[in-house]
Amino acid sequence: MNKDKLSVIIPTYNERDNMPLIIPGVSEILRGKGIPFEILVMDDDSPDGTSKAVDELSSSYPETRCIVRKDNRGLSPAVMDGYEHATGDIYLVMDADMSHPVTKVPDMYYAIAKDGNDISVGSRHAKGGGIENWPLKRKIISFGASSLARPLTSCKDPMAGFFAVRPSVIEGAPLKAKGYKILLEVLVKGNYDHKKVKEVPITFKDREVGESKLGSKVILNYLQHLVKLYLFPGSAPFFKFLFVGGTGMLIDLGLLTFMLYLLGDGKNDYLISQSISFAAAVSWNFIWNRFWTFDARKGSAGGQYIKFSIVALIAFGVRFGLTYVGVDLLGIDEQPLYQVLTIGVIVIVTVINYIGSKLWAFKK
Ligand code: GDD
Ligand code: MN
Repeated sequence: MNKDKLSVIIPTYNERDNMPLIIPGVSEILRGKGIPFEILVMDDDSPDGTSKAVDELSSSYPETRCIVRKDNRGLSPAVMDGYEHATGDIYLVMDADMSHPVTKVPDMYYAIAKDGNDISVGSRHAKGGGIENWPLKRKIISFGASSLARPLTSCKDPMAGFFAVRPSVIEGAPLKAKGYKILLEVLVKGNYDHKKVKEVPITFKDREVGESKLGSKVILNYLQHLVKLYLFPGSAPFFKFLFVGGTGMLIDLGLLTFMLYLLGDGKNDYLISQSISFAAAVSWNFIWNRFWTFDARKGSAGGQYIKFSIVALIAFGVRFGLTYVGVDLLGIDEQPLYQVLTIGVIVIVTVINYIGSKLWAFKK
């Protein structure tokens, strides 16, 4: 059997003293398992002589090379650059400071090479994972940061700096190196099967040598990055769906008012105005949902439009039906109860609309 080659990408800035730990650590374990590999140390021209330390190791560990970067410095750009230089069939990223257990590297590899996953994540929040020696402050920040990203991905540890991918996941994906959280960027924008993300539990150890480079600027950066990821087509579809639905409702009401003003407000006028404004709102929602909410531009637009309209009509019917049951059969007509009924009906109808859109009209 032809074995997949692993490219281990290690971004570094002032990690000289960690090189004699991480390079032998990773190399021995991969050699022991007979996994073909290369190690790319992506160093931002560290003043402490990180690259020299790598060169000194390279006679014993010829699979390792150091690439010294002088432009566009930073963690994410260094990782992206690593992807450009990598020659393997699977790319793995890990920190230089021994925070990520080298013993888990083979598991991360096998999750893709053997089990056929597209992405594997060294996860602190998967069952069996954890964090050692982290101060409370860091834990709180980390919890807050992952919570904000929750709607973007089902991965439990999207902030991890330890993960592996098939090259096809990132090839052609519009990844931006500015975002600090590169895994999150990959999870939102990458090309992969969402069921093929494997979380390998790890215990994250705080570094013993050197200092963390993540300061408060990183937090601000992260928040800006999050905004962009939430706006990216196809991410957090339920939020986008609600937003689009809200704008559609405004169009519906606005157009209805305008049509009634043009036509008058007899019973027929109302029916015509209502139908036109409903159709306009459905079309408006359709366009935004197709291109933005679900990023379903690859499917046939005509088929999607018909299905989406059917879903909207069904939801519309359910709305009337439920209101009829509530008001006429159950006799709900007092003020606060009527509002409660209406809210309940809107929630149910929204869920029907959403499920019909996601699982049927815009199904990929
Ligand atoms: N090339 C390059 N350029 N590498 C960098 C830079 C840079 O500007 N800044 C940091 N690195 C390297 C470090 O040398 C280290 O190997 C790795 O990136 C992580 O940096 P740390 O400073 O050790 O980060 P951390 O321990 O605070 O954060 C880690 O854990 C977080 C999880 O909470 C990282 O893995 C984060 O990505 C992760 O989110
Ligand atoms: Mn660290």
